[in-house]
Amino acid sequence: MIDKSPLVEMAKGPSPVGAARRATPTLSRPIKLRLTGVSKAFRSANGNTTLALQDINFEVREGEFVCILGPSGCGKTTLLNIIAGLDRAGCGDVLCNGRRVKGPGMDRIVMFQESVLFPWLTACKNIEIGLKSKGLSKAARTVKAMDFLRLVHLSKFANAHPHELSGGMRQRVALARSLAMEPEILLMDEPFTALDAQTRWILHYELQNIWEKTGKTVIFVTHNIREAVCLADRVIVLSSRPGRIKREYKIDLPRPRDDGSVEVAALSTEILAILRDEIEKVMREELDEGSCKECDVKCVGVTPDNSNPK
Ligand SMILES: Nc1ncnc2c1ncn2[C@@H]1O[C@H](COP(=O)(O)OP(=O)(O)OP(=O)(O)O)[C@@H](O)[C@H]1O
Ligand SMILES: [Mg+2]
Repeated sequence: MIDKSPLVEMAKGPSPVGAARRATPTLSRPIKLRLTGVSKAFRSANGNTTLALQDINFEVREGEFVCILGPSGCGKTTLLNIIAGLDRAGCGDVLCNGRRVKGPGMDRIVMFQESVLFPWLTACKNIEIGLKSKGLSKAARTVKAMDFLRLVHLSKFANAHPHELSGGMRQRVALARSLAMEPEILLMDEPFTALDAQTRWILHYELQNIWEKTGKTVIFVTHNIREAVCLADRVIVLSSRPGRIKREYKIDLPRPRDDGSVEVAALSTEILAILRDEIEKVMREELDEGSCKECDVKCVGVTPDNSNPK
């Protein structure tokens, strides 16, 4: 029964979903997500205001893979949370399928940097548990969970508990869990950052394959320029805080892409030149905040009140 599922067929060979989607030029596909004039400020307990995002405008088409790149603290997670409906924009609009986002929804699922699996549940049960909200019978949940475990090449570990899996395998279970919910948009916040370079490379390859097979719309946040160039149809580079769109790059390289290829390296170098200015701005701001009041020397790691423990 499991082997007849369309998803398993996708995992085995060319996908009707992905192939059909790829055949349609990006600009002819419907707009899945539209952000207009999105800004967000946070007010802290001491009354200070941090403007995290300013006037963000972009669209994402169905089946597009968009990477958001930017220096630390520029508002990437805030942006993803607003799209997910976990946080609200201070001003501006977020439309998903033409409808205003007012809160979290099954159509938008977030996968975080360190995914949390329930330690007392097996890999399969960790996926099944999320499917309860979809109203599926127990048998149907198991079939579906197994289908998605197969998609991430972990069906042999269906009965393993999280502590019996490597970090990379746990992230694959988390990916399977997110995909099993069949969101229209998969939102990924630095999902592979905590992994070693080799495991990350394998997961890049798997994610590219899965994306081609399932036709999902993906918004992927990362610090890693090569990761963005390897994965994305389009890379959006944000400025340092407040995050604004600094530049967009369309990535037309053939897939699957190898992060060691000359083409990926060349594009990454071009993007780094743009991003470097922003990273330097962040460093300068941090140094200013940490400068010694008395000696006027910029010291990293010195507390602003210049307290001396001696
Ligand atoms: N709940 C909050 N309350 C107050 N300030 C916040 C809150 N969440 C985020 N911020 C501030 O908003 C800014 C953007 O934070 P955000 O986490 O979105 O950045 P980021 O680009 O995801 O950073 P990183 O790359 O380090 O993950 C930061 O200055 C942060 O301190
Ligand atoms: Mg973040």
